[in-house]
Amino acid sequence: MLPITNLNPAFSLTRASHVTMAVTDLERSRDFYRDVIGLVVSAETDDAVYLRGLEEAAHHSLVLELAPEAKAMHVGLRVRSDDDIVAAEKFFTAGNIEYRRVERDHQGPTLQFRDPVGTHIELTSSMDVVPRKMQNYNEFVAGAPQRIDHYQVVTHDVQAATDFWTGLGMRMSEYTAKDGTDELWGTWMEVKGNTHDLVFTNGRGPRLHHFAYAVPDGASLIHAADVAGALGFGDEIDRGPGRHGISNALFLYLRDPDQHRVELFNTHYQFIDLETPPIRWDVTDPRRAQLWGMPASRRWFFEASEFPAEPVHEPLLQANPATLEDYLGVH
Ligand SMILES: [Fe+2]
Repeated sequence: MLPITNLNPAFSLTRASHVTMAVTDLERSRDFYRDVIGLVVSAETDDAVYLRGLEEAAHHSLVLELAPEAKAMHVGLRVRSDDDIVAAEKFFTAGNIEYRRVERDHQGPTLQFRDPVGTHIELTSSMDVVPRKMQNYNEFVAGAPQRIDHYQVVTHDVQAATDFWTGLGMRMSEYTAKDGTDELWGTWMEVKGNTHDLVFTNGRGPRLHHFAYAVPDGASLIHAADVAGALGFGDEIDRGPGRHGISNALFLYLRDPDQHRVELFNTHYQFIDLETPPIRWDVTDPRRAQLWGMPASRRWFFEASEFPAEPVHEPLLQANPATLEDYLGVH
């Protein structure tokens, strides 16, 4: 069933903004994100590293936290103002949604909660401001990632997740559905005016499939792949380069030393005008996944990062994706 976006939501979300990942070796992960991906280190402590993209004026878009187990801790979204944090508290209280207000270094008022499918979310209204490095071309390395863009979450119930987030003002730009129907298998939802901030796809969940950074151009993407190869991470490219039909992204997916997945991409398009309908794709149409390029590997399809103490549910819809291994006849 297609969702209806609430154009006057209880509070105002503005964009995907920051993700917190638990890692088992802080230095190793810092080196990966700095040297293989190309992020800027904003701050370091004994148990956390804060990183950002080159053009970002917000203090961090990736927080690495040292922990005994690799986990996805929170995916972060920004709200417009401090008043929206207060409005979010009222909304959660009225809807019996558990939340807590937390102190987070370098951030203003911050709330944490779980959405109805168990995704761990953090909302904040501001961050410390730092210099943009978008013209420090001498500091561009690897993929030269400019800014965080979106998250993809695997969920057992795409419809429930989509209904919740469109109720908070997100708009669906594209979706996959059972052939010839509107039974939702994957939904791409946005608030910032391009194709997506938050994606839900059908599978064992909740698990974070990836977080994504926009790179300047296709050459940066290929250079990131070359740097990954040069630094011994060539085998950790688990998909791409290729171009998705959905969202028109030129993409490259890499796994970090804890097997968290990060995407580098470019060329999403604008999705702002309210009258524009979402693009629908049959779930069996291979062009939705790749306009060109090889199908995704098994590990891209089936591996993702769990949230701490969050039970993983079997999906309501049963999928049998065509993998690279199937394509190559490997059994
Ligand atoms: Fe993505």
